[in-house]
Amino acid sequence: MKKVLVTGGAGYIGSHTVVKLFEAGYTPIIIDNLCNSSKKNLDGIKKITGKEMKWYNVNCTDLPAMQDVFQKEGEILGIIHFAAYKCIEESIKNPDKYYKNNIGSLEVVLECMKENKLKNIIFSSSCTVYGNPDFLPISEDAPFKKAESIYGDTKQVCEKIIMNNICNSVSLRYFNPIGSHKSALIGDCSSDKASNLVPIITETAIGKRKQFTVFGNDYNTHDGTCIRDYIHVVDLAKCHVKAIDFILSNSGKHAFNVGTGIGISVLDIIKVFEKANNLKVNYIIGNRRNGDIEKIYANVDLVRSKLGWKAQVSIEEAIKSAWNWEKNKEN
Ligand code: NAD
Ligand code: WQD
Repeated sequence: MKKVLVTGGAGYIGSHTVVKLFEAGYTPIIIDNLCNSSKKNLDGIKKITGKEMKWYNVNCTDLPAMQDVFQKEGEILGIIHFAAYKCIEESIKNPDKYYKNNIGSLEVVLECMKENKLKNIIFSSSCTVYGNPDFLPISEDAPFKKAESIYGDTKQVCEKIIMNNICNSVSLRYFNPIGSHKSALIGDCSSDKASNLVPIITETAIGKRKQFTVFGNDYNTHDGTCIRDYIHVVDLAKCHVKAIDFILSNSGKHAFNVGTGIGISVLDIIKVFEKANNLKVNYIIGNRRNGDIEKIYANVDLVRSKLGWKAQVSIEEAIKSAWNWEKNKEN
């Protein structure tokens, strides 16, 4: 059995990755205490794949409980470590919660790997490690600049911890993940109020919000709004499978950007949403949001050449899938 441990496997990106791991012939084993997800995603994975999977309802910061899981599972090819908190605003209000969970869970995973002589970890990093970039498209050799949030700081610290550990590692620096599986059976089940652009658009379109605010239209971009690199979550999930394949035959430390390489503005995203779904959304132009970066998008040469991975889903399809998830998630 080609076992892969997936911490945070019931979450948004984790659940999509578990599906892709099954499809690629791996046996994913989930560790997730559902602190920011729900059983809905676990049921969704079963419906999509038709497979029964093992799920440990364990907190990754609990060393004895994690040691128990590692001991029970024995030979594991690799660990994909998604488990972390991800809300930027909350991280600024409650730094301790973020440092304890995001860094604490990684420390425990690395300790269990050492005890069990396991070497391979794929780590969920983020483009936020770059801070405000000096050049675009940003490539992996860019230095880490001052993090714009505590959340960003936890990702920088985690990457540094991994660099100084004996493990083989692939840090995947995701840009802006959006959308969901075509079945709309799995998706983002966060308990937090949505704070990312695309779920805010879909919540407005469905009537959960009266309107939303575009944060600033006076940036130095073609329409004055910020530019990001929006990556479909299924493409992102596939990249994790490639990373597992890769780490099995490549030792050492690696970091890859996972984006499309294409920068899209906030107003362009709204236009794509309205056109793809034949809908209008109610928004106003407001002030800039603190800590927002004007433009960031990925140089994807390295991930293409080393992992043989490239984003395939168009922005229209990605946005449609986000809308389908919004419509289905209450059912
Ligand atoms: P998510 O909140 O949907 O998934 C995280 C999962 O981890 C949840 O199911 C949660 O219940 C679980 N979890 C958290 N702490 C845990 C703990 N101590 N023990 C056990 N389970 C725990 O988030 P996501 O969007 O799927 O993000 C996954 C990873 O990717 C995170 O590390 C996040 O920081 C990173 N990331 C996310 C984005 C994004 O925009 N979604 C972008 C870049 C990086
Ligand atoms: C996208 C754009 C906003 C909401 C963060 C992290 C990144 C990754 C994804 C985890 C920005 C604008 C948003 C709204 C708006 N997460 N916006 N009105 O800030 O690029 O990235 O989440 O690692 O690391 O930094 O994502 O979706 O919040 O914003 O105008 O109500 O949409 O200003 O330009 P962001 P986002």
